[in-house]
Order: sequence, then C-alpha cells, then structure tokens
Amino acid sequence: MERMRRLRVSPAMRSMVRENHVRIDELVYPVFVMEGQDLCQPVDSMPGICQYSIDRLPEELNRVTKAGIPAVLLFGIPAHKDEVGSGAYDDQGIVQQAVRFIKSEKKYQNLIVIADVCLCEYTSHGHCGLVKDGIILNDETLPLLAKTAVSYAKAGADIIAPSDMMDSRVRAIREALDENGFVQIPIMAYSAKFASAFYGPFRDAAHSVPGFGDRKTYQMDPANGREAMREVEEDLLEGADMIIAKPAMAYMDIIRDITTTYNIPVAAYNVSGEYSMVKAAAEKGWINEKKIVMEIMTGLKRAGAKMIITYHALDVAKWIREGE
Ligand code: PBG
Repeated sequence: MERMRRLRVSPAMRSMVRENHVRIDELVYPVFVMEGQDLCQPVDSMPGICQYSIDRLPEELNRVTKAGIPAVLLFGIPAHKDEVGSGAYDDQGIVQQAVRFIKSEKKYQNLIVIADVCLCEYTSHGHCGLVKDGIILNDETLPLLAKTAVSYAKAGADIIAPSDMMDSRVRAIREALDENGFVQIPIMAYSAKFASAFYGPFRDAAHSVPGFGDRKTYQMDPANGREAMREVEEDLLEGADMIIAKPAMAYMDIIRDITTTYNIPVAAYNVSGEYSMVKAAAEKGWINEKKIVMEIMTGLKRAGAKMIITYHALDVAKWIREGE
C-alpha cells in the first residue's frame, strides 16, 4: 500500500524531503523615511512599523544588516507635496538624502538599496501620475518617472523599482538610466500590480491616499490573471530585470503563472494589509503569529517566488535562525 506517512515520521525525515525553504538572503524589508529629526513615528495600522527620519534610520538598518537581510525597499514621505510630485525627482528629496546617507556609511556597504519609483507619495492629489481634468495622464508622466529613477541612481540606489503602473514606464526608465551612464542598474518592475484594498495601511504610512477617485484606471483589475501575463511580457520587452507580483497571498496563481512561463526572478510583495491582518489577529491571541507567518512565507516560495518583500522580514529572519 502507498503510505505517504512513511516520510513524515520525524523532524529529520520531514526536513530531508522538504521541497521549499524560506531563506533570509531572499528577504526584502520595506523602510519608510520621512523629513524631520529624531523621528521614529509608529504607523498605527501597521504594528511594529515606524517612519524614520534619516538620523534615526541606523536603528532600523542595523537590525536589518544584523539579521542578514540583504535588501531594503525605500519609500519616502516628503515634507511638501505639489501637483507635479516634484519631491520625487528633486536631487535633495527625502529618498535621495536617505540613499546618499546609507551609501556614505561603510557598515551598510553590502546592503542593497532598492528605490521605489512612484509619484503618489509626492503629489498633492495622491495619484501615481500627473492629473488633468480628473484624468491620470500616462505619457506626460513618463519623463517624471524617468527623472526620478535617474535621480535615485545618482544618489546611489542599487535597484530601481517602478510601482506607478503607467504604460511604457520601464522603457522610459531604462532609456534614461542608460543615457545617464547607469546601464548597470537593474529595474525591478511592479508588473503585476493590482488595484487592491490590501494597500490600505500602506497609504496611511506613506500618506498617499488618492484625493479623488481610485487607482483602477492604472492598477490592474483583481479579476484578471491572463492580463497580468501581458503586463509581465510588456515589461520584459521594455527591459525589466526582475518582476514584482503584488499583493501576494490572494494572488499566488499569478506568481505561479509568471514563474512557470518566464525565466526571470520574481518577487512576491506581501503587502501592508496582509501584514496588518496577521498582526491584528495575533494581538488578539487568535492565531500563532510565528507559525502563520512562516506558513505564508513558505506558501509564497511554493508558488514560485524567488524574493519575498515583507514587513515581517525582521521577525522571519529571527525565526529562521531560531529554527522550528
Ligand atoms: C506606491 C506603492 C504602493 C505600495 C507600494 N508602492 C501603494 C499604492 O499603490 O497605493 C503598496 C505597498 C503595501 O501596501 O505594502 N504606488
């Protein structure tokens, strides 16, 4: 008789036949930097997550490097917003300052700094592109995204990650990076990014709630899996080096489809709402946080993710080191 249980008898046996593993060196930790001084401002809807001023950033970065996490994904919260999101492409902008600071510190020399490129944190209307008569403009936004990417690269960013979902932004950014001598800087494209309610807590953290309407004219319809493959294909043709699928848990089929079709590293973005749901339930004592988080991470690996971008990264690294 087939006895599947033969290989489940002991921890050693289960470990020997285990198909997927969560690894510290594949984790990416999102970090929020804000203008100001001496700030570690907790984000109410994301327990354990703070917005840091640059002078306090080392507290968080030291935890990251000590944990062995290879990369941070930087989001900026500027002091001023305007119609055209100029804080994004200002060489003195908050992300540019933060990147320059990180790159000037010898102890962070091996830390990979990924800069999220988007206008929504910098525009007064909160949309990811320029707005005219209530319409989010595509082609007019591209030069600004390209300018932002070049500005981040100049500051020292290692990877550029456009999350705006304008058409053709990867090509625009690739061309601008190349023209400015940054041919070696990879683009990690948020290709399959859905118009999701799971971004709610992030928008509190990044102060990027749209002032009117929603993001449905540029982010994808959650019902469309086949269309996600077209988005990925487009971005690959335009020069993407890595792909992000986002959100993660309700979109594992997307991760699976991308990884079985294309030979490219895929990052699963375990977004703010996914994080906050787990934290809230854990605070109530309804779930075992460690077990639930590790099961989610394992599921993302099983779906095919290479990297995992997650607010749980510091805990995950700790739990991996502790073992079962
Ligand atoms: C910026 C951006 C968002 C997220 C990453 N980059 C918010 C949005 O598109 O509204 C979401 C990340 C998260 O929820 O953790 N466009």
